[in-house]
Amino acid sequence: MARAKKIMGVDIGGTGIKAAIVDVAKGELITERVRLETPQPATPAAVLSTIKKIKKELDWSGPIGCGFPGSIKEGVVHRAPNLDPSWVGYEIVNKFKKSLGCDRLVVGNDADAAGLAELRFGAAKGLSGTVMMVTLGTGIGTALFYNGVLIPNTELGHLEMKGEDAEAFASNSARENNDWSWKKWSKQVDRYLSKLEYYLGVDVFVIGGGVSKKPEKFIPRLEKVASTVVAADMGNLAGIVGAASLAA
Ligand code: BGC
Repeated sequence: MARAKKIMGVDIGGTGIKAAIVDVAKGELITERVRLETPQPATPAAVLSTIKKIKKELDWSGPIGCGFPGSIKEGVVHRAPNLDPSWVGYEIVNKFKKSLGCDRLVVGNDADAAGLAELRFGAAKGLSGTVMMVTLGTGIGTALFYNGVLIPNTELGHLEMKGEDAEAFASNSARENNDWSWKKWSKQVDRYLSKLEYYLGVDVFVIGGGVSKKPEKFIPRLEKVASTVVAADMGNLAGIVGAASLAA
């Protein structure tokens, strides 16, 4: 029997940093999930020291994959709207490698990572055509796939509609902070998804984030969007499994 390919997956979020050792061939965690609060302010040094603690707790010295809530190009952070502003321009790959003492470390966008996990092991398994994962959480993350190939670093959570950033009216935090009913919020999500569908010809949307546990609250209310909309089914494991898969 082939040996499991093990990688530590780290999901860096605005409120929590979660990690585990993942069997990337099966898409399964092979250790407990460790979660620590994201330090505030979430500066690079503070986040890095939290990841160090987690790595120690998991007693890990192998490859690491990280999902990051922002866009990264050539190892450098370009945007991180929900973390500390000091991330912009930070050489995340080199600095993390050096400080974590890790030869193989890959960092990618958190939604791209989660989408990868759903495509390989979850709700989008086996789907072809244009598939888009949309994570509705503190922010909105998007991951675009065509016939299973990821087109990385889409930032369509910041699509502007009627002068407003989509995150301001369709993220789950907008629903919570404004105390909107599911009905009102679903209408806004419907408007947002139908715009994405129109521009990108999306065949299937996979909705992730905490709301994916309550699909009955909003999916049946989506009337404008003609594409199929399904809830992600890996829950909060998608971020960790996907992060590890980035480094596989
Ligand atoms: C960021 C994305 C990220 C998403 C979810 C957005 O604000 O711009 O890069 O994927 O939040 O964390």
